[in-house]
Amino acid sequence: MSTERFPATITTTTTTTTATAFIDNVQLKFLTNDDIDTLKGLCSEWFPIKYPDNWYKDVTNGSQFFSLAAVHNGVTVGVIVAEIRLRNKCHKEDTDILGYWYPFDTQLAYILILGAAKEYRRKGVASLLLDSFLKHIHSLQHNYCKAVYLHVLTTNVNAVLFYERHNFKRHKLLPHYYAINGQRYDGYSYALYVNDGCPRWTMCDVINKGVDYMSSFSLCQASRYLLTTVWGLPNRLLLLNNNRHTTGQRTVRRV
Ligand SMILES: CC(C)(COP(=O)(O)OP(=O)(O)OC[C@H]1O[C@@H](n2cnc3c(N)ncnc32)[C@H](O)[C@@H]1OP(=O)(O)O)[C@@H](O)C(=O)NCCC(=O)NCCS
Repeated sequence: MSTERFPATITTTTTTTTATAFIDNVQLKFLTNDDIDTLKGLCSEWFPIKYPDNWYKDVTNGSQFFSLAAVHNGVTVGVIVAEIRLRNKCHKEDTDILGYWYPFDTQLAYILILGAAKEYRRKGVASLLLDSFLKHIHSLQHNYCKAVYLHVLTTNVNAVLFYERHNFKRHKLLPHYYAINGQRYDGYSYALYVNDGCPRWTMCDVINKGVDYMSSFSLCQASRYLLTTVWGLPNRLLLLNNNRHTTGQRTVRRV
């Protein structure tokens, strides 16, 4: 696990189109252990899952997690908690988020929680937090981070619309992924590819890419290619034959 420390300060300027007078007055600050109660309050408002006390301690201790709060007039109006993981530390259901050709030590970023307090929604709070995290991911230090991903309940329409608005693509349906109060609920995984990252190719992708390649190969180019190949064939055969002779001579000389 990485023990890097995140920067103590972060710029609050954002390029989102949701920047308004409200959002201009929002400050960003990293969470510390003093924010545990506030975080507990927000999480119980947002999620039907109860996180253990240790989890709150871990995400606010300033080492492993990127835990950023949006604060307006002294009130915490939103929070993002994310983590950078190595590809081989991802859960089984997420290992195909990146193409199989990426080395096991390729980084992925996982968003554990992101939310805005109810009375401050649709004001750009979550967008501001997400943009700040993405800026962090695009920094040189995280050049090897190839995707940002998360899980969401299929019924959480607001979150689905939010992430799709931010260009996250649905990766897959995860049947019975969540266990809430003894009942199973479906989830989706969503991913946003960064720093030239890309997903695993499906058979469909391979066929599409083949078709794209073939169609970019115009008829004129194709016939030229065919002619040069056929025309050059006798020459190549001759060359091959000559080479064989030369190799043979060399062998004779060495002996
Ligand atoms: C999803 C959530 C984080 C969005 O936070 P927010 O601060 O309201 O989001 P923003 O204001 O930055 O919204 C940006 C865009 O997302 C989309 N969006 C967000 N909420 C939406 C909603 N209720 N309906 C439709 N679109 C929505 C819109 O496109 C919106 O842009 P617009 O307002 O210009 O139309 C918020 O509803 C929330 O906290 N939900 C509870 C926690 C949660 O479920 N988190 C996600 C799982 S980790």
